[in-house]
Amino acid sequence: MFSPRDSGKSDYISLNIHESGSFARGTSRSLWRQWNQLSRFQRNILYFAIITVLLVIFYLLPSETKASTSNNEVDYSNVEVVQETAKYEKAVDEVVVDNEEQAAGPGEVIEEPEFQPEINQVDDDQIGEPPQPKPNILKFNGPQNYKQEAVVAAFKHSWNGYKKYAWGHDNVKPISKRYHEWFGLGLTIVDSLDTIYIMGLYDEYSRARKWVEENLVFTMNRDVNLFEVTIRVLGGLLSAYHLSGDILFLNKAADLGDRMMPAFSTRSGVPHSDVNLGTRSAHSPKWGPDSSTSEVTSIQLEFRDLSRSTGQLKFETAAARVSEHVHKLEKYDGLVPIFINANTGQFREYATITLGARGDSYYEYLLKQWLQTGKTIDYLRDDYLYGIAGTQKHLVKHTAINKYLFIAELVGANKEIKPKMDHLTCYLGGTLALGVHHGLPSEHNILAEELVKTCYHTYAIQPTFLAPEITYFNIQKMEGENQMDMYVKTNDAHNLLRPEFVESLFYMWYFTGNKTYQDWGWQIFQAFENYTKVESGYTSIGNVRNIQHTRQQDMTESFWFAETLKYLYLLFDDTRQLIDLDRWVFNSEGHPLPLYES
Ligand SMILES: *[C@@H]1O[C@H](CO)[C@@H](O)[C@H](O)[C@H]1NC(C)=O
Ligand SMILES: *[C@@H]1O[C@H](CO)[C@@H](O)[C@H](O)[C@H]1NC(C)=O
Repeated sequence: MFSPRDSGKSDYISLNIHESGSFARGTSRSLWRQWNQLSRFQRNILYFAIITVLLVIFYLLPSETKASTSNNEVDYSNVEVVQETAKYEKAVDEVVVDNEEQAAGPGEVIEEPEFQPEINQVDDDQIGEPPQPKPNILKFNGPQNYKQEAVVAAFKHSWNGYKKYAWGHDNVKPISKRYHEWFGLGLTIVDSLDTIYIMGLYDEYSRARKWVEENLVFTMNRDVNLFEVTIRVLGGLLSAYHLSGDILFLNKAADLGDRMMPAFSTRSGVPHSDVNLGTRSAHSPKWGPDSSTSEVTSIQLEFRDLSRSTGQLKFETAAARVSEHVHKLEKYDGLVPIFINANTGQFREYATITLGARGDSYYEYLLKQWLQTGKTIDYLRDDYLYGIAGTQKHLVKHTAINKYLFIAELVGANKEIKPKMDHLTCYLGGTLALGVHHGLPSEHNILAEELVKTCYHTYAIQPTFLAPEITYFNIQKMEGENQMDMYVKTNDAHNLLRPEFVESLFYMWYFTGNKTYQDWGWQIFQAFENYTKVESGYTSIGNVRNIQHTRQQDMTESFWFAETLKYLYLLFDDTRQLIDLDRWVFNSEGHPLPLYES
């Protein structure tokens, strides 16, 4: 293969020889006689002079002219690919070196190389297809209107409580002013990195980055949940890496990913739910032999991105194998039971079918993995479409009075309809809209709009204007009663500051520009302000049904920072351009990761 520059040169030379031939017309005979009279040495000198002049002319031409002399695009893309591979290899070397350093002295302050921009950036003068990953580093200018300002103020209020009473621990308990430890990984900091970055809070960002650099280690002898750590910690680190370009986050992510790999050492390849990062061992949950279906199928975006970013294939290979395995299992019109045995690799028979807890993100990650891989893996899209078709056929129900659409569950061997919907299920509206935007059937939008409306009512009918964790629905009309469409059981009346509905509002706003979705989000934000705000942050509440007895629970989940406030901030972005949904895909914890070409 010749390079484009060579091909341009040869074209130019042949052109000039042709022109000098036409110039010689008329005087050619006498010139020819003189030429023959020259010695071989004199002729060589003339040849040399002509070639030198041609070369000088060529190199003085502007570079675009040179490029345009070749139409061979295949050559350009080949050049591009070779250069990109070399960049990946460089990234891998850095990661490996860093891991060795960490193994030598866990917990020590590690001197990282400063931010290495060449890993992510594309030279402007390169021509052809953009390389993978696409250029990602983004800069943000902070809030642009009073609603975004209010969300940032809420974030800061919450963050200050965390800083003061729980810094370096997983969660803040904002009423007792203590901390809560779950994984011992500074969860709130890692989960918040990209939100802080997107909100343009650069002082907080440097402080959080410093904590990650100096204190985030994965050597503790402690069981953690593979799925939770993947979506929150691995996803948080990868997102921070892609947004900022700072290799520190990638190095931490690679160490963490490495320590999670033992979870996949099962007979079926379906991972155990729990893994010990310090001892690098894994096992089933304490409550039984099964893993949750949504958990084992919602780690692929992160593991694939880790492979693409480091050049180490093992992460993507292990996680993709799980998806391929689940793809081959028999389903109920595309719907999956919520438990799967890690050793046999089989679904638990008669386990509940739901788009809520333990089922939800199976469907979400089918679509999002398909997008992440440039729409090149057909079975992911097909299984997503089967899942939505199965949902339409078996799970979509309407309430008796106002005909609100909701998504029911199927329980037991007879697959009986249970007319309840988790707040978690409210993610689906946004995911459906995302699929339609990327070319999937537009009928999905009807389901999306109806579901979003119902989810809105689960908020709006409560005196706190906050939705409960679970809502039940009446699907049969009773005679003579003062019947309601929706009701809430005492044990389900809590609100954990969950994001799924404002997440869907963000997607609906992003794709339609319909301000109703912003208005609904603003109402909900104010409800959080009215009923969950306390002196040192925002807290989960135990009861959304009574404004006198909200039973504040003294807990701030990390997804409040990672998702709820991030999606609200993005919902109030009037330009709808902060994060480009043709370039990024949000993982299940609200962390944006880049889309790849394949
Ligand atoms: C905006 O969305 C709301 C809620 O779905 C809907 O009722 C309304 O008709 C929409 N407005 C427009 C102009 O499409
Ligand atoms: C929140 O409180 C304000 C001021 O008291 C009130 O105007 C607003 O209606 C309340 N909003 C919600 C959703 O409770």
